[in-house]
Formats: sequence, structure tokens, C-alpha cells
Amino acid sequence: MCGIVGYIGTRPALPILIRGLRSLEYRGYDSAGVATPGTDGLRIVKASGRLDRLIERVEQTVDDTATIGIAHTRWATHGPPTEANAHPHADCSGAVAVVHNGIIENFSELKLWLEKSGHRFVSETDTEVLAHLIEEYHENDLSASVRAALRHLRGTYGLAVMHAAHPREIVVARLGSPIVIGIGTGETLVASDPSALVGTTRNVMYLDDGEMARLDASGVQVTTLQAAPVEKALQEIQWTEKEIEKGGFAHYMLKEMHEQPETVRSALRGRLASDGGVTLGAFSDLRAALKDMRRIQIIACGSAYYASLVGAQMIERLARIPVSVDLASEYRYREPVMPSRTALLAVSQSGETADTLAALRLAKNAGLMTMGIVNAVGSTIAREVDAGIYNHAGPEIGVASTKAFVSQLSVFLVFALALGRERGLPPDEAERIAKALELLPMQIERVLRSRDQVAEWASQLSEKRHVMYLGRTLHYPIALEGALKLKEVSYLHAEGYASGEMKHGPIAMVEAGFPVVALAPHDAVFEKVKNNLEEVRARGAKTFAVTTPEGLRTLGRAADNALEIPTTHPLVQPILSVIPLQMLAYETAVAKGLDVDKPRNLAKSVTVE
Ligand code: AGP
Ligand code: GLU
Repeated sequence: MCGIVGYIGTRPALPILIRGLRSLEYRGYDSAGVATPGTDGLRIVKASGRLDRLIERVEQTVDDTATIGIAHTRWATHGPPTEANAHPHADCSGAVAVVHNGIIENFSELKLWLEKSGHRFVSETDTEVLAHLIEEYHENDLSASVRAALRHLRGTYGLAVMHAAHPREIVVARLGSPIVIGIGTGETLVASDPSALVGTTRNVMYLDDGEMARLDASGVQVTTLQAAPVEKALQEIQWTEKEIEKGGFAHYMLKEMHEQPETVRSALRGRLASDGGVTLGAFSDLRAALKDMRRIQIIACGSAYYASLVGAQMIERLARIPVSVDLASEYRYREPVMPSRTALLAVSQSGETADTLAALRLAKNAGLMTMGIVNAVGSTIAREVDAGIYNHAGPEIGVASTKAFVSQLSVFLVFALALGRERGLPPDEAERIAKALELLPMQIERVLRSRDQVAEWASQLSEKRHVMYLGRTLHYPIALEGALKLKEVSYLHAEGYASGEMKHGPIAMVEAGFPVVALAPHDAVFEKVKNNLEEVRARGAKTFAVTTPEGLRTLGRAADNALEIPTTHPLVQPILSVIPLQMLAYETAVAKGLDVDKPRNLAKSVTVE
């Protein structure tokens, strides 16, 4: 959700902090702030809205050459996105500054107690209680006062704290929200995401839940909340800054759509042989357990959930194992049955989604074997599953997921092949799928070249207020994803529906000009989808069909508009059919002049409930 950056070293901190916040903007935020040492306590500068407003404010203050500071971009959970609610938050004396990512669930009772003890609050946030708790417990050791404060907390946090009485240290801690520490030469940094560090250092270490650390210019000391020392491995960030830049495209979302051929290659690399043989590190670790597995429960949110709906069909078709798919936010509260010999699979691009993490922990506590399909290396979900498969899709900056979705489908198919090969999938079928996957990158490139036609569709849709997306079997989740994409970036109301369900109600909405986008590859259910298109068109709908060459030849008048995608193996086809829908959402948002990469109200990583 929000972004945290901290620096202590020998260089002026402000430029480094601001550059770090800039690289975290993609995570979505509504306000920002920074704290550095001042003449009387700490100097805190904050602004609601975009980062540029904070920069204006900072430039208006005295010339600040301090070599220590913490900074924050906020995605509000408690209290509106006002300047007063922006972080950093201070205590009564102005000696403490705290930036926080997460939710303090018991903040109301803590606030009441602190107010009764004489503390004065100036914000509506949950976070501010942290600053006053630290003030309450502070004597002469900042780490000890943070530790004492955290013992009262219930909820989640990634946080960084400064204190005027300790001008050469920053204390950080994490429980449920990511904290990564960067080790430079004579300087140490902290951030909520490695992309804020790559400009300064690639040597990082990730805090785990229940850990905290004291940072100074010479390095870092990591402990548990009980002050027991913890040894942490240093890792090197692989992502280059270029990967994080837009690479010449107008938007990150467009760049990432065009990365998708490489995304598929990265998902397959070292895992899938031309003959359909699969080598999955995670798989070999769990081979015995997976062989014994009798069902899979998948949990995910948003696009990852829609990818999982496709993945479940892939696994059932190839491995004949029953698979259920739950929205993580539902799974964790619906008292799910978790039979023995069930494996839980968490799917998450960021690896930090609070609902997915909570549902994973529920299953772990119930004793299920847990697996993950995650993109963010070193993320919490990636580190908490028993075994995982990384997407290796690189950072996805655009808030609307594109390449991560395609990567998830690709990884799912490889995983389904691995399971299928263990359960009697005929080798020639596996080889056919492998061959289709090898062709997929080039086919995606071909679909991406149909931008002009998609832009023409977008010019029609951008004038509409409602759009219906239809699909069947493997393409029903693609209809759901296509509708989500359009909603997310163009703010148009769109709904994905199983096309067989139209006659059970939604067809009542159809009137003259009502746009209906249908996934209609020439597959086993093509005739059914064609009938559905004819049904809505007979009632005045304007129909848009994504179809294959054979479908194009037979759709006839059912489609007012038809866009051709290559034919491939039925299990690979959904990966191709989502591409035009991603493009359609993008072009519609551009046609409407909207902020494609940072849609309103959205955050890239939803690390709060
Ligand atoms: C997708 O376009 C959205 N950004 C959102 O639905 C996202 O897929 C969802 O929040 C899950 O995120 P995750 O994959 O990082 O867990
Ligand atoms: N819960 C805190 C607030 O609302 C932090 C939110 C965030 O993670 O940005 O200020």
C-alpha cells in the first residue's frame, strides 16, 4: 500500500528519500511526508495528494542537509487522506517521528489510554498511537522504547522510527508488512520495497515478521522483538533500474503488456522441456507430498484469483485432481473445510496481499501443505509457503496487472503439466502443450500488433457506460479479468459473465447499442458462444468477438466487430485471448485521458484488509 524510505549515512538524506518515494509511487498513495533532524526536535514536512506537493513544501523549508531521515507515502486506512493524517507522525514533544505501513487494530483502546495519560493527538490515524507509545516508554534506548510500544500492538506493521535524542540511528520493525534494508558503503537504508533502494545499493536483507532492527551509518543490528540477535542473509537485487523504468513506452502498463512474450519465456525457462518434461524445484521438494495429495485449494485476490480460476481448470484437465478456488478474503472467514491430504496454493504477484497472507496462515495453522505462485522474490508469502514457484516476471509497476496475470497462467500450465505427468498424462499430450507454449511468445507479439483495431474498438467503448464480457469454460475467467481491467483503468462499469448465464437474467439489460465483448475461439463451446452472441445481437447489442481464424470464418453476422487471434492448444488459448482485452482496457483509458498507471483509489499491493 504505502511506501516507506529511510536513510542514514554521510550524504544529504532528502534527495535520497524523495527519489525513493518517487520509485514507490506506483504502489498507490494519497499523501506523503518526510522527517529529518531539526533545530528543536525533528522537522516533519507533509502534504496530501501527489509527491510533487511534498517536494514543493520541502523546498520551501530551510536548506536541509541532514544525513538522516525517514519518509512515507500513505494509502489511508484510518482517517481521510489529509495532510494532518499523512505520515510521519510525531509524539507530543516532537522528538519522535514514525512512518508505518499496515493497520493497528487496537488503536482506539490505546488512544483512549494514552489520552487519559495526558497525550494529545493531532490526527485521526491509527499510526499516531505508535509515536505516543514510544514517547511513553522512552528513557535512553530507542530500540527498547519501540520494543515496549510494539508489545501493546495488535495488527500489522512495517515501520521506521527516528528520535531527536538519537540523531544517528533509525529503528525499524515488521509484522505483516514488508521491510527491506539496504546496506551501502557508510550508509544504510530501509524501504518497503527494493525498487526504492536500487538507485543506491543492491545489497539488501528482508526482515521477517516479529523482527526489528537498529540502523546506523555503519550497518544494521537485527533482533527479534524479544531482543534476541538474528543473523540475516544479504541478497542482491536482480532487477535493474531499467526494468523499473518505462523503457520508452508511454505507460508502465503498455510496457508490461509488451514484455509478455518475454514473461512467458521467463516462466518456462529451465522448467519445461520440448518433450513436455517439467523440472520444478518446488515440485521435487514436495514430490512425495504432492503424490499423496488428493485435492488443491487455491486462494488469491483480484486478477490472481481469475488466473487461478483458469489454473484450476488446467490442473483438473491434466492431473484429474479436484481443485477449488476461493477469494482469499472469503476463505479466511467462511470456516473452510480443510480435509487431510489437501494442499493449499496461494497465488499473489506482490506476495504481500494481506487477505491472501491471512488465508495462507489459516491453512498453515490447520496443518495443510502450502505452496505459492508468487512474483516478488523474498516477499512474505514467498517465504511462508512450504514450497513455491516464482513467476520471474520482474517488477510489475502498472497497478493493473497484465504480465503478472499472463505469467500466472503460464506457471499454472507448467505446474498442471508437472502434476499430470505424475498422474498418467500421456507424454504426447504433454509434448503438444509444450510445443504450444514454445510458440506462445511469438503469437502474443502478433496479437500485440493489432493495436489499431483495438483502438478502434476502444473509441466505440469509451462513449459507453456499461460493457458486458462473455466467455465459457477456460474463457469465462478471462471475461472476468477483461472486465476487471476495463473497470480498473477506464472506470467504466464492466461485468464478466459466463455466456451461458445471460439468459438467466443479465440479458434483460441488453438494449440498442449495448456493448458485449465475447471470447469466441473456435473451441468445443464455440457454437454455444456464437448462439449467445446472436441472442444479444437480436436485442440490439453491439457485439465484439475475440476469435480464431476458423471462428472468424463462421461467426458471420453474430459479430459486429471481430478480432482474430492465433489458434493454439485449448489450454494455452486463454493466455492469448486475454491480450486483446488488456489492450482494450488500456486504449479505452487512454482515449478517456485517464492516469493509466495510477488509477484512482487503487494500490498496487493491498497490504491492508
Ligand atoms: C489487478 O489488476 C489488481 N491490481 C488487483 O486485483 C490484484 O490482482 C490483486 O490485488 C491481487 O494482488 P496480488 O497478486 O499482488 O496478491
Ligand atoms: N493505517 C495507517 C494509516 O491509515 C497506514 C496506512 C498505510 O499502510 O499507508 O495512516
